[in-house]
This record gives sequence, C-alpha cells and structure tokens, in this order.
Amino acid sequence: MRKVQPLLVVSALCAIAVSLRGQEPAPGVTSDAGLVVCVSAPACDAGAAVLARGGNAVDAAVATGFALAVTHPAAGNIGGGGFMIIRTAAGRTTAFDFRERAPLRSTPTMYLDAQGNIDRTLTAAGYLAPGVPGTVRGFAAAHRKFGRLPWKDVVMPGVALAEQGFTVSEALARSLNAELKRMAAFPSSVAAYGKPGGGSWAAGDRLVLTDLGRTLRAIAADGPDAFYKGWIADRIAEAMKANGGLITKADLAAYRARERTPVKGTYRGFEIISMPPPSSGGVALIEMLNILEPLNLRSMGLLTPPALHAQIEAMRRAYLDRARHLGDPDFSRVPVDRLTAKTHAREVAASIDLARASRSADLGADLLNRSATEEPDETTHYSVVDRAGMAVATTYTLEGSYGSHVVVSGAGFLLNNEMGDFNKKPGLTNDTGDIGTPANTIAPGKRMLSSMTPTIVARDRKLVLVTGSPGGRTIINTVLAVVLGVTEYGLTGREAVNLARIHHQWMPDRVSVEESQVPPETIERLRAMGHEVRPGMRQGDAHSIWIGPDGERYGVNDTRTPDSKASTAGGLTQPSAER
Ligand code: DON
Repeated sequence: MRKVQPLLVVSALCAIAVSLRGQEPAPGVTSDAGLVVCVSAPACDAGAAVLARGGNAVDAAVATGFALAVTHPAAGNIGGGGFMIIRTAAGRTTAFDFRERAPLRSTPTMYLDAQGNIDRTLTAAGYLAPGVPGTVRGFAAAHRKFGRLPWKDVVMPGVALAEQGFTVSEALARSLNAELKRMAAFPSSVAAYGKPGGGSWAAGDRLVLTDLGRTLRAIAADGPDAFYKGWIADRIAEAMKANGGLITKADLAAYRARERTPVKGTYRGFEIISMPPPSSGGVALIEMLNILEPLNLRSMGLLTPPALHAQIEAMRRAYLDRARHLGDPDFSRVPVDRLTAKTHAREVAASIDLARASRSADLGADLLNRSATEEPDETTHYSVVDRAGMAVATTYTLEGSYGSHVVVSGAGFLLNNEMGDFNKKPGLTNDTGDIGTPANTIAPGKRMLSSMTPTIVARDRKLVLVTGSPGGRTIINTVLAVVLGVTEYGLTGREAVNLARIHHQWMPDRVSVEESQVPPETIERLRAMGHEVRPGMRQGDAHSIWIGPDGERYGVNDTRTPDSKASTAGGLTQPSAER
C-alpha cells in the first residue's frame, strides 16, 4: 500500500470539523427509562408506551414494527421482511432473520423476457414481485424467546392506530398522493389508501385502515398462524391465483423465521455486532472496518480527500466480495469467517494506492461482462434500548417504496417486491450494477441477498451504539459512516448521524457524496485522484441510540426525515433533537 502524501488540505478539513462542531447539535433526547427511535412519531410513541408499561426492548421493537406497518406504509410492514439484532443487558447477542423467501414455483429465469433480457417491470410492481413475507413470523420468534409482555399487548398498539386512525403528516400526505398514482393499477390498493370521498390527502387528515386493523387484530388474537395458515393466508393465496402470482398457501405454511448467530468484528477496541447472511450487511461492514483500521483515518481528518479516498477503496473491495460470494447460506456455502477475518482485509488492502483510485473493472474483471439498476428507496430502521440496557436494532422493508404497490384484497396490507433483490439474470455481472453470481440466483425457498445492516456496537462489555439504515446497497456505507463517526472520530451519536455519507459499490464505478458538508474542493480533489464523483442527494436514514461517555443514552433520530422521533418511556418525549 502506498503511503499518503502530506495533506495540503488540512485547513479545509479542520474547517469542516469545526463547522460540524460549530453547529453544536444537541446530542439527542435522553432517558434512562428506555428509548425508541424511528421514522414515524406515532409508531415511536407506541413502542415507548410499551416500554413504559414494563415491556422490554424486544416487546417495544415488535410493537414499533407493527405500528410502523400502519403509520409508515412505504416501508413499515407485515407483508415484507427484515432482520433484528438483539443484545441483552448481560451482553448476549443474537439475530433474527425474517427475510422473504422465493415462492416454491419460482425459477432462476422468471424475470427474463423472450429475448433473455431482464424485465424490470416484473419486480417493480404487481403480483410476481413479492417474496413470501417473513415479518410476522420473525416478530413472533423474537417475542417468543425474549418478550416479557403477552403477544397481544405488543400487537394491539398497531391495531389501535389502524382502527382509530392517526393524523397524517405533511410528508405522509405527499407520499400517499404520489403513491396513489402508482397504485392506480391495483383497485384493492386504492380502496385501502385512497382518501374517502376522493381528493388528495392533506396534513391533518385522519387515515383509518379498517382492513389492516382487522388483520392485525387476528394476528393479536391468534398469533402468527392467523397470517400463515388462517384466513389471511387464504386472502393472499386467492389474490395471487387471481392475478398471476406464485405464492400459495403451501408457501405461507412453510415459511420459517431463523435465529442466527450475528457476525462480529472488532474495530479499535470496539465490538461490532451485525447481521449475517442472507444479509450482506454485517460481512461487508466488518470487512470495510478491517481494511480501514490500520489506516488511522483520524489522522487524515474528517471528510478529507485522503480519508474519503481510503473509505471508497475499502467500499470498492468489500462490495466486490459481496458480489462474488454472498447469498442465502441455507443454499450455498458463504465464506463468512474468511471474509470477516483481519488477514483477508490485509490481503485485499494490498492493492490500495492511497493516492490514486483503483478501477473496479481491474479488480473484478473475471466477474464482468457487458450489458442498469437503480436502488429503490424505501426500507426503515429503528432502534430500541430499555431501562435494563437490552438493545434491539431492527431493519425491515417492502424493498421499493410501498413494495409491489399491491394491497391484499380484504386484508389491507401491502406486499413486498423483494424478489428484485435476487440476481435476475444468471451469469450477467456488468458495470451498471447487475450481478449474476450463483450465490444469489433465484431458487424455490431461497432468501434473496439483502444489504440491511442492523448493527450494535459495544466496548468493554458496555453498549455504545444501536444503528442501521434504509437505502438498498447504500445501507452498508451509511452504517459505516455512523460507526466510523463514533468509533474512529470520537463524535457524539448526533454528530455521527448528521455526518455526510458517501457510497461506492464496486459497480458502477462511481462514488456518490452527500453534498451538504463536503466542500467542492474536496470533490475536485477526489476527482483528481481518479474517482468519478456524483454529488448526490440524501443517503440513508439512520435512527440510532448512542450511549455517551457519561453513560447517558441518547436517542438520535436522523433528521433527514421530517417525521422521525426519539420517544422516551419516561413520558419526556421531545420532538427531534433539532431540525
Ligand atoms: O434488502 C435490501 O437490501 C433492500 N431490499 C432494501 C431496500 C431499501 O433499503 C430501499 N430503501 N431505501
């Protein structure tokens, strides 16, 4: 590895650090009675109320998840899937995998047209797009093992929100009005989310979701079997059959959530606990941290060209490994231990030039052939810590915003379009972001590879950070930024969450940069090093909890989203710490 030249840009870098410090953002909402931090205020409040009633962090996480299925329909769900990382107050860790599975009748080439090209419309919307949902089984599995309150008590807050309705915010009104255009092809979706009497949604309106309330009430009363074997399963199977979809009652009955061992790494004395396959998140996060650890980023400064360059080169290499190796571990051997080992990071880092950008095509030439893919932008992450110190990081999703745009007729919930996360054309890996490696090609019952990265950081057996984000493949890099902010740069949780984020994913060979805190000179310098830089829009939405050196727990909602909140169990809720 070539040594970095002395930095000309130190003063600019210091200015950024000072300006970050200069904002003196409030560190966050604190509470020793427990916190829920999420994208939608009424759902965070529902979760915090469960903590206040004596529920633990898993009770609150499950309650928040069901509530988000009501108040944040773009990503909160019961018709999708996701991942949960749990760290008990005593420091024991585990992970729940409730990722969707490919239907039993799926095939590796089901999304190719007659010419053999990927037909992206099939995974963008409609009845062929969903995988078999996992959320309800996942929540039930986590609750069965760790919950303290009765199941009904953690589902009913969602029922109340659906049946009694809740106030529509300005952001939700805008989102629903845009979505209703996309839902036009699906009458059951318009029936659920159209404004009664017609017209557009406006801030202050009340959204009541009657069918969803009935569905959640059945789940509360009869447990997850109501969804996977009872009348809700009937409704899903009927809708699929009537509209050319693949999911059957047999698919639903066969669905199992999995408890898995988290992937673990260390970074400068911090312990990193994250999601194993079928998410790529934990493996790639730990590989990047292992590559960066010897480089002493802090000495390069915060958001400086050399520090950003080093991170981009780590991203490039970890995402190449992701493309090469990662998929559902129940279907093929995934070399998790090797990829998360410090020795592997050293080998991979040997090709990094600290002064020049590498070319992705040179590094992964064997994978590439020729022949685009946009990351969709909805998923949601939330963080919970209870009074005793048990922590839960949950990221779950419908994949695209409002998933497949299909509401199950008579059952009131949206189905995911997660099948699009599979490698849709076996063998096709290209410079636009398609990946065709075998580990993630479609097979009946297989889980599609995810980038979701719910993550917990501890040090000296004490909890330090609970974090995660939406954002498709950008998720892992958003979590990297928050983790580096806290562990490498010694920032507060608030500063780390506010910090500008960058994203490189091996292919396409370009880096996007959140512009707000990255001055044009820095972008120019990165370009001079050989990077294709795209000043970009907002990246991620990392609702986090940070435990300061004073031992206080700070709820740090990501103020990139307007309705987000850190709610406390003590009733001392404050809206977001700052806007
Ligand atoms: O599992 C995944 O990685 C994606 N389906 C997540 C989608 C996503 O984050 C879209 N969001 N903003």
